Amino acid sequence: MKKQIGSALPPILAAVLAAGIAGSVSAKGLQPVPKMTDQEMKDAAFIYFDRCSGCHGALRKGATGPNITPEKTRKKTLAKLEKIIYEGTDGGMPGWGKDGFLTKEQTKLMARFVQNDPPEPPQWNLKDMKKSWKVHVPVDKRPTKPPKSNWQNYFGVIQRDAGKVSIVDGDTKKILSTVDSGFAVHILRSSASGRYMYAIGRDGRASMVDLWADPPNLVAEVRIAIDARSLDTSKYKGFEDKYVVAGGYWPPHYAILDGDTLEPLKVVSTIGYTYDTGDFHPEPRVASIVASHTAPEWILNVKETGIVLLVDYSRMDTGTVTETMINAERFLHDGGWDSTKRYFLVAANARDTISVIDTLERKLVKNIVTGTKPHPGRGANWVDPEFGKVWATVHLGEGLVSIISTDPTKDYAWTVVREWKLDGNSLFIKTHPKSKHVYCDNTINKNKSNVLTVFSIDNPTAPPKELTFEKKVVHMEYNKAGDEVWVSLWDKDGELVIIDDKTLKVKHRIKGLDNPTGKFNVYNTMYDIY
Ligand code: HEC
Repeated sequence: MKKQIGSALPPILAAVLAAGIAGSVSAKGLQPVPKMTDQEMKDAAFIYFDRCSGCHGALRKGATGPNITPEKTRKKTLAKLEKIIYEGTDGGMPGWGKDGFLTKEQTKLMARFVQNDPPEPPQWNLKDMKKSWKVHVPVDKRPTKPPKSNWQNYFGVIQRDAGKVSIVDGDTKKILSTVDSGFAVHILRSSASGRYMYAIGRDGRASMVDLWADPPNLVAEVRIAIDARSLDTSKYKGFEDKYVVAGGYWPPHYAILDGDTLEPLKVVSTIGYTYDTGDFHPEPRVASIVASHTAPEWILNVKETGIVLLVDYSRMDTGTVTETMINAERFLHDGGWDSTKRYFLVAANARDTISVIDTLERKLVKNIVTGTKPHPGRGANWVDPEFGKVWATVHLGEGLVSIISTDPTKDYAWTVVREWKLDGNSLFIKTHPKSKHVYCDNTINKNKSNVLTVFSIDNPTAPPKELTFEKKVVHMEYNKAGDEVWVSLWDKDGELVIIDDKTLKVKHRIKGLDNPTGKFNVYNTMYDIY
């Protein structure tokens, strides 16, 4: 697997990439390149992929964090770099030593590593995917009928650090099964029929669970990339459960897989040019993906170039896809549908913007400036008593809920019509069409990480209520009926807490989960209800 980037690329592109990567300039005023053993390079590269590439990019050419290639880092002494890595900065660099993630030794290693040329990240071609592909239960060995249980009210629960996904029955509150998934699973998605639940790990491993089996079991898996975050399935009429698409951070590409078996069928690169300046970018990562219900299409958000791709899969039987490229904004991250599922709202987080895409007219409606680093997850839709249909996001960078009108007939459509204050930064927001409450977590607010803030839809100017838990609380999801809210206590000895949405009282607890984070109700995920 030690293939180098560029080896299978056309010579010109390979030359461009190599020039970009191997930029060890020997100009005056630069620190010498520290010597490192092969083992040290390996250890450092592992830490780098795990902790650093998310912000600085696999090639170190910068993403939400700055470029840290040697021509920049060699302007600083090792001592200075160690200080930045250990202590962090006010400009957004986390303090890896101070926060307990890296030892002094590892900090020193990383300082030397960033003054060396980045090792060339491996490629991951279709044939690599095929080699990693495993079907554990062939299609003809799977049940032909759904179970008698209310399986559309099952929940998939991510146990992030353990690399596992549990299936929990939402009616009986019993854990039905726990399967091995990729490392640090980011999201789960349901097939159009709801029968299959798909997971994608940060290590690029896609896996699928058959919810009709008793107990639900892992039926197939494939590694689509070295580093990945997102996937979805074909949901358009006539294509239900037919295809899966999964997006890579590294390599920057998306893979189209068979929906029943995860057989890799096609891979498409997202390497290209930024939408605004037209600069070549060697690493435009695929952030969130959603499936259209109104066209045979996926909406793929390409982070660094700021382009939203509408990928038409209707001719995939001949191996053909059609891409519509919509200029949006750079650093696209997560997003979700408005209540009509015509408009897709996606955060360009490092630009403090929400981009609105009209999937019917196939164009950008507007870039809306919100607060610092919007992070909607999929966002939350409700009907505001004064402004009508709205969608909202919380922020990674400030304690703010930005509420945006999604009613195109209003003159204030696609503007922030209302703001709610939180006491600090937040990860997720959630409500349900049947609910009168909007929940925000405070997971990344050090002073309140064990508190949920609950706003009233009917009384939007009233001070919010607070629900306090004994541990850090993250991510909310409703049951199928929309009358319970499930939250995770994020801890080695973690649990799910189920809240009665009407009374805000704890109804039930499910213990014995290792670092539970995101959870996805089958019915709500099938129909994109949020
Ligand atoms: C959450 C995003 C994020 C992550 C993850 C991250 N960084 Fe940074 N890093 C930044 C930002 C933002 C800056 C710029 C800070 C500033 O200007 O104050 C930065 C700055 C730096 C700098 C100084 C660059 C310069 O030329 O001044 C170095 C070196 C660096 N990071 C190394 C690392 C290493 C090594 C890791 C992994 C252990 C890492 N970073 C992980 C966001 C991140």
